[in-house]
Amino acid sequence: TGQFTFDPGFTSTAACESALTYIDGDEGVLLHRGYPIGQLAEQSSFMEVCYLLLNGELPSGGELDEFSSTITRHTMLHEQLATFYRGFRRDAHPMAIMCGVVGALSAFYHDSTDIADPEHRKISSHRLIAKMPTIAAMAYKYSVGQPFLYPDNNLSYTGNFLRMTFGVPAEEYEVIPAVEKAMDRIFILHADHEQNASTSTVRLAGSSGANPFACIAAGIACLWGPAHGGANEAALNMLKEIGTPDKIPHYIERAKDKNDPFRLMGFGHRVYKNYDPRATVMQSTVREVFEALKVDDPLFETALRLEELALNDPYFIEKKLFPNVDFYSGIILSAIGFPTTMFTVLFALARTVGWVAQWNEMISDPGQKIGRPRQLYTGPTQRDYVPLDKR
Ligand code: CMC
Repeated sequence: TGQFTFDPGFTSTAACESALTYIDGDEGVLLHRGYPIGQLAEQSSFMEVCYLLLNGELPSGGELDEFSSTITRHTMLHEQLATFYRGFRRDAHPMAIMCGVVGALSAFYHDSTDIADPEHRKISSHRLIAKMPTIAAMAYKYSVGQPFLYPDNNLSYTGNFLRMTFGVPAEEYEVIPAVEKAMDRIFILHADHEQNASTSTVRLAGSSGANPFACIAAGIACLWGPAHGGANEAALNMLKEIGTPDKIPHYIERAKDKNDPFRLMGFGHRVYKNYDPRATVMQSTVREVFEALKVDDPLFETALRLEELALNDPYFIEKKLFPNVDFYSGIILSAIGFPTTMFTVLFALARTVGWVAQWNEMISDPGQKIGRPRQLYTGPTQRDYVPLDKR
C-alpha cells in the first residue's frame, strides 16, 4: 500500500498514547488507571471513578467531598435551554435531543471554551459531567409530557438523576437505595473504555481545537449507532422479539446465517475475545435489582438461556463471541422504569467522564496533532471536463 498502512476500521492502528484505561481482550480484563473494573463497580462510587479518571488517582475523603460539591454546583442548566427543548417534537428520540442540547451548550457557556486555558478545560469538564443527568432527565420528562424538575443538590449525583427523571412536583420522591446503587454501578461500568468509536470521535473532533461541548456532542452522535451504544436498546428489543426460550434456537440460526443481517445484539466485541468483565457485574446486578424492587422479568431467563446456548455453539465459540456490557443492562434499566429509548442516553451520561478525560489528556499532550487519516483512492484517473451539451 505504498506510503500508507491500509487499516479499515482501525483494527490494528494505535492512534494515541493514553494512561486512562487498559483492556486485555483475550483475558477479559478492564482496568481504569490500573484498578480492575470489578473492584471499582463493587466498592467505589461513580463520583470516585470520575475523580480517578480525571486526576489519575483515587481521591481521599476530603478530595472526594470537594469534587462532589464542585460537580453539584454545576448541575443546573441555563434556563433558556428549557425553551430549546420545547422546539423538539414530543416523540423525538431522546438521543436526538441530547445531541442537540449538548452541542448547544457551547452557545451558553462561552466562558469555558478557551481550550488553551487549563482552568477553562477544567470548568467545561465539570460542567459536562454535572449537567448530563439534568439534560438526560429533561429529555425524558419532555417525552412523557411532565414538567422539568430542577436538580436537588442534597442528593447524590445518581439519586438526583433518578429524582429528576422519575419524580413529579406533586409528590415527594424517595430514592430507593438499592436502585441508586445499581444505577451508580451501571454508570461506573460505562465510564470509559479505551479508544472505542465514540471516544475516537471525540478525540478527532477535539484534535482540530473544537470546543469541548461540540466534541462531546460529536461523541454522543457516534455512540447512538446500534453497533456501539445503541446496542443496549437493540439488545432488549431483540429479547422482547425472541420472547420465550423455545424461540432461541431459531434466532441463533439466524445470527449464524451470513445471508441474514440479524446479529445477536449485546454479543461480540472488537477487543474482548473473552467474557466482557462488565457483563459479569451487570448480570449479578440484575438479580440485586429484582430482589430490591420485588419484580421479575421473564426476559432475564430468556437472556440467560440465550447466553448458555450461544456459548455452547461452535459458531460463537470459534469466533470468540461473548456477552458484552449491553447484553444485561437493558433488563436492569427496564426494571428501574426506563423506556428503551433512554438506554443509550444513560450510556452517554456515564461515558461523558471518559470522553472528557480522554479529551483533556489529548489537549494536554504537547505532541498532539490534528487527526487526519489518509485513504486509498479508488476513483477515476484525471480526465477532461465535458461541456453539458456534449454529454
Ligand atoms: N452475532 C452474530 N455474529 C457476529 C456477532 C453477533 N453479535 N458479532 C460478530 N459476529 C461475527 C461476524 O459476522 C463476523 O463473522 P465473519 O468473520 O464470518 O464475517 C465475526 O463475528 C467478526 O465480527 P466483526 O463484525 O467483523 O467484528 P467487529 O470487531 O468489526 O465488530 C461488533 C464488533 C461489536 C460491532 C460486533 O460484534 C456486533 O455487531 N455486535 C452486536 C452489536 C453489539 O452488541 N454492540 C455493542 C458492543 S459493546 C458496547 C459498545 O461498544 O458500545
